[in-house]
Amino acid sequence: MDDLRARSAVSRPESNVPRQTRPSVVMAQIFNRSTNTLSRVSIFGAVFIIAALITVWGVMIRSPYFTEARVVREQPVPFSHKHHVSGIGIDCRYCHTSVEESSFAGIPSTKTCMNCHSQVWADSPMLEPVRASYREDRSLQWTRVNDLPDFVYFDHSIHVHRGVQCTTCHGPVEQMPMTWRENTLFMEWCLQCHRHPERYIQTAGKSIDSPRKLTNCSICHR
Ligand code: HEC
Ligand code: HEC
Ligand code: HEC
Ligand code: HEC
Ligand code: HEC
Repeated sequence: MDDLRARSAVSRPESNVPRQTRPSVVMAQIFNRSTNTLSRVSIFGAVFIIAALITVWGVMIRSPYFTEARVVREQPVPFSHKHHVSGIGIDCRYCHTSVEESSFAGIPSTKTCMNCHSQVWADSPMLEPVRASYREDRSLQWTRVNDLPDFVYFDHSIHVHRGVQCTTCHGPVEQMPMTWRENTLFMEWCLQCHRHPERYIQTAGKSIDSPRKLTNCSICHR
């Protein structure tokens, strides 16, 4: 509509004014209209750019580069869950012994590795750091893959007893040649389940605290 009115405004003076003044009138009109368009473009442009930046930022802070989710960590020994769990068939609890009784799942000591590796692959150079650790009686320094900030309280045994599977939180560990973190472990990730735990777990008749309590700040921030 604005454009139509602008056009008819141009055509009326055009027919009435003497020939020689016409170009400047037309020029003025063109100039006015284009600045108008220009300012509109720049306002929409600014809004668009801000929206785009917010989107890019949002995508960026959730990307593996920033969250380090799904990024394989360097380890002192290239330990493969794929080999030991899917291949050999060792149960998670053989190595992560405290996962059912305590808040902490536990990382196996060198002794656990040596139960087998004093015989299997006993001369493998790949396993030298394990043998050195055993000989010198000092722990292997595994790089943490999942690590919540200290102000968050988390307990494995509660989750495991409620029937939340390791894979629900950790992904397909038994398929990982090197371990990566499947989920961000951001607050929103915890809350997504705490709001509707029945969607994620087989409760089999056990009752679960109402979502109101599970989303209470003080259960995770004590
Ligand atoms: C033979 C011993 C062994 C078995 C069996 C085993 N793990 Fe592990 N696991 C380890 C070792 C060693 C590490 C530390 C190195 C690493 O992160 O890969 C580890 C690391 C992990 C981590 C990451 C720990 C962190 O730093 O956050 C998770 C999660 C995990 N294991 C889950 C599982 C699950 C689930 C199973 C069963 C499907 C399993 N593990 C079976 C030895 C084992
Ligand atoms: C129950 C026996 C057993 C235990 C416990 C065990 N391993 Fe193994 N591991 C094996 C066997 C068997 C192989 C050979 C796998 C193959 O050739 O497919 C192997 C292979 C390996 C290899 C060679 C690379 C690979 O994954 O094939 C590494 C490294 C290794 N183990 C590290 C460890 C570490 C570290 C631990 C302790 C956290 C450990 N293993 C505990 C049985 C075990
Ligand atoms: C409800 C989600 C959830 C479930 C289910 C779960 N974990 Fe974890 N796991 C976590 C979180 C979160 C951490 C990081 C804890 C921290 O930093 O304090 C973690 C850490 C670990 C670690 C590193 C050592 C530690 O205890 O911090 C291992 C190993 C591990 N989990 C193994 C397992 C195994 C094996 C199972 C299944 C028997 C399992 N987890 C089930 C969420 C889960
Ligand atoms: C897949 C679902 C799931 C995820 C993901 C999950 N939880 Fe839970 N959480 C549960 C269930 C189910 C319970 C047990 C509720 C009950 O006992 O009634 C629970 C209980 C808890 C409790 C104990 C509450 C109490 O009564 O003392 C804490 C603390 C907790 N979760 C922390 C966390 C944190 C922190 C995270 C994220 C790092 C997390 N949870 C992720 C399902 C989940
Ligand atoms: C189910 C567990 C859980 C509950 C319930 C929970 N939080 Fe968190 N919160 C977390 C985790 C996990 C983190 C760490 C996230 C990270 O690594 O950045 C966190 C981080 C935070 C942070 C640090 C800033 C941030 O976002 O990383 C603040 C502030 C916070 N929570 C406030 C609250 C408040 C307020 C409530 C109640 C409305 C609440 N939380 C309820 C798990 C929880």
